[in-house]
Amino acid sequence: MLNATEIKAALANRPKIQWRSEPLLGSIYGQEEIDAAVGAIKEAMNPENGFGFSASPIPEFEEAFAKYIGVKYAAAVNSAGPGIDIVMRALHLQPGDEVIVPSVNFVAAPLAVLGAGGKLVWGEVDPKTYLLDPADVERKMTDRTRAIFPVHIHGMSAPMDEYIAIAERHPHPVYGPAKVIGDAARACGGSYKGEKIGKMGWATIFSFHTMKNMTTLGEGGMIVTDDPELNAFAHSVRMYGNEVDEWGTSNVMTKVQAAVGLVQLSKLDSFIAARRRLAYARNRMLEGSPDFELPYEPTDREHSYYLYTLTVKKEWAGEKRDALIKMLQDDYGIGSVVANRPAYLSRPLLAGKFGKTTPISEAAADRMISVSLHPAMSDSDNAYIAAAILDAASKLA
Ligand SMILES: Cc1ncc(COP(=O)(O)O)c(C=O)c1O
Repeated sequence: MLNATEIKAALANRPKIQWRSEPLLGSIYGQEEIDAAVGAIKEAMNPENGFGFSASPIPEFEEAFAKYIGVKYAAAVNSAGPGIDIVMRALHLQPGDEVIVPSVNFVAAPLAVLGAGGKLVWGEVDPKTYLLDPADVERKMTDRTRAIFPVHIHGMSAPMDEYIAIAERHPHPVYGPAKVIGDAARACGGSYKGEKIGKMGWATIFSFHTMKNMTTLGEGGMIVTDDPELNAFAHSVRMYGNEVDEWGTSNVMTKVQAAVGLVQLSKLDSFIAARRRLAYARNRMLEGSPDFELPYEPTDREHSYYLYTLTVKKEWAGEKRDALIKMLQDDYGIGSVVANRPAYLSRPLLAGKFGKTTPISEAAADRMISVSLHPAMSDSDNAYIAAAILDAASKLA
């Protein structure tokens, strides 16, 4: 942990960049992205080409992404939200069919279950990892459970093989084991048991939105799977569903985005390495503080550190944690975020439809604080942030 002299020295170097809670560009862009985008536009300027339908390099980007993850198929979409909707619709849920979703979540997955006509069952998270708790999933399996839908919430993989084993122990009487689906919007490039996130489970959805680990000009997403039927479904319904004659709309990615995506993909591992290096350096600067637990990373995974999440001590849950967030912003110019409180607390629609049933997760979320981290952050800015956290905590105590 930094000592008083080190804290003072680090705080003397205020960052030149306003480090927001989730910096608005999550990756790093260079001349290569500009060249790729301009190249794709120039190609499209020929009226014989235009921007095309699923035109090159969209299939090339899909193929490269599938190879990177280690799966057979990838389908590019305009953002992760519609990607999640497409996967949910592929389940063809019947009224009363259940999907277990962790309440500590962004709203995309819960809304997708609602949109697909399913019954959402809120799962508790493990307060140490903030990931869907397998023991709670097992308790909530019924003969109506069609899917288990964890989110890799802070960029670290959820324990996928535990959910898969649970699904196999409780097969649905008609459809067999529940499908395990991963929301990896925030976790592109992380790994689990030596494989990239996205390799395990029936389907995984990634986001390339501007804040994410890799980005495709502000919006974009990818569905990956080893299931040829799901892949065909996704490719069809992302453009009105003609081939499968199902409801669909336009959710396509442009070739300019795909061209940039290919470049970002080639840099992704370097972004993740930078995030991990900064996270570990920050851990060393905070280690031993009585006020926080550091991000927990089991030995079987590589956290991508999309978010760097501390757990405040019990006595600081709720109000004091909120005061810390405000102090970091107001006094030090550093952004932090609670990612996320149970989704039903922010969306009455979800509470009304599916209840508020995860007290453990509500309590866990009251202790969570994710403080800005970015692959382009300098060591000096990282030290400033660690010093700000310690200084603010000493004022709060
Ligand atoms: C966990 C999670 N799921 C889904 C999404 C939706 O991603 P997109 O903005 O690409 O639709 C987000 C976006 O912030 C997210 O954080």
